Parts: sequence; C-alpha cells; structure tokens
Amino acid sequence: MSTSYQWRHATPADTADIARLSKTHLGPYAEGQEVFAERIRLAPEGCFVLTRGETMVGYFCSHPWVRKKPPALHQLLGEIPAEADCWYVHDVAVDQAARGGGVVAAICERALAVAGDKGFRTAMLVAVSGADGYWEKLGFKDATTDALRLKLRDYGDDAVYMERALTS
Ligand SMILES: CC(C)(COP(=O)(O)OP(=O)(O)OC[C@H]1O[C@@H](n2cnc3c(N)ncnc32)[C@H](O)[C@@H]1OP(=O)(O)O)[C@@H](O)C(=O)NCCC(=O)NCCS
Repeated sequence: MSTSYQWRHATPADTADIARLSKTHLGPYAEGQEVFAERIRLAPEGCFVLTRGETMVGYFCSHPWVRKKPPALHQLLGEIPAEADCWYVHDVAVDQAARGGGVVAAICERALAVAGDKGFRTAMLVAVSGADGYWEKLGFKDATTDALRLKLRDYGDDAVYMERALTS
C-alpha cells in the first residue's frame, strides 16, 4: 500500500463525497447520500474512507446484518436488527489511481477483524457487475440460493451473494 493513501473512519461530513464516488464507480448500482449517512450512523466502526492528502479517493462501508437477507438497493435500514448474525460488506469503491496496491484488501481485513472481535462468524456481500471473481480472491464464496437470486434482481442478472467465514 502506498504511504500516500490513508484509511480513516468515515464521518457524517463525508457522505457527499462518498455518494459522488459511488455514482462515478457503481453506475446503476450507486446509492445516495442518505443511505451512506445512515450506515455510518449505525455502524461507524465498519465505515471508512480512503484519502490522499485532502482528497477522498475511496470508501468501504460495512455493518452488522442478517445472514442471507441482503438489504435492497437504496433501502434505509432504520436500525441494526437484534437478530443480526452476519457482517455485511455493503459497498466499496476506489478511484482508478488508488487501485492495484492492496488498499481494499487491507481495509477489508481490518473491517472483518473488527467483526470477528465482536463475535460475528460470517461475512456476506453482493457482488455486482462481475466482481465475484475479485471477492473470491479475498476469501468470499458464492452462496447464492434460488430465493436470493430472485431477491437480487435489482442488483443485475449477474449479481452473486457471497459469504466468508470469520475468525475472532
Ligand atoms: C472493486 C475495487 C474496489 C477493487 O480495488 P482493488 O482492490 O485495488 O483491486 P483492483 O481494482 O486492482 O482489481 C484487482 C483484480 O480484480 C479485478 N476486478 C476488480 N473489480 C472487478 C469487477 N467489478 N469485475 C471483475 N473483475 C474485477 C481486476 O480486474 C483485477 O484483476 P487482476 O488481478 O487480474 O488484474 C475497485 O476495482 C473498484 O472500485 N471498482 C469499482 C467499484 C466496484 O466494482 N465495487 C465492488 C462492487 S461489488
């Protein structure tokens, strides 16, 4: 990882820049500022931004959720359910210039270590636009069921629900 890139915890003041990056890099799956503001409020320990100097060049957003029940796109959560049993990697994007040096793998490990320390035993995510191969390299495996395939239609025909076991 280049020393010029630094991850720090996200704050409510970051949401406009996060939404801008989401729009740039996630295309039809980009979500709005209010979604990120809520995730940061509900799980500040799982939400990070990548900076280079004064500029935000990436974000990583994750939080507790319920296994095999990924939220719909644009869904506000209200609260983290009492039955939350899984750590959900909700969204990540970094600018092209910051890619390829392992910054995302590093923050993913950091967030999943936090989850493991909190007692979560599984992480989950929805890979879009062919990114499942990328997530496989980070230890996630396809766990899509027929029911999930139907539920994930908003994420595109090639959406893949994935899970990874966590250790404390
Ligand atoms: C996904 C992302 C955060 C990974 O950043 P990174 O860890 O620095 O990794 P890289 O971008 O260098 O990609 C690593 C490898 O995964 C592949 N990859 C990355 N994103 C991919 C995608 N969406 N679909 C298919 N392959 C992808 C790259 O081609 C590369 O392959 P290589 O090792 O054979 O060259 C970054 O590519 C990004 O911001 N993409 C746009 C947003 C996005 O797709 N988010 C994930 C949605 S599930």
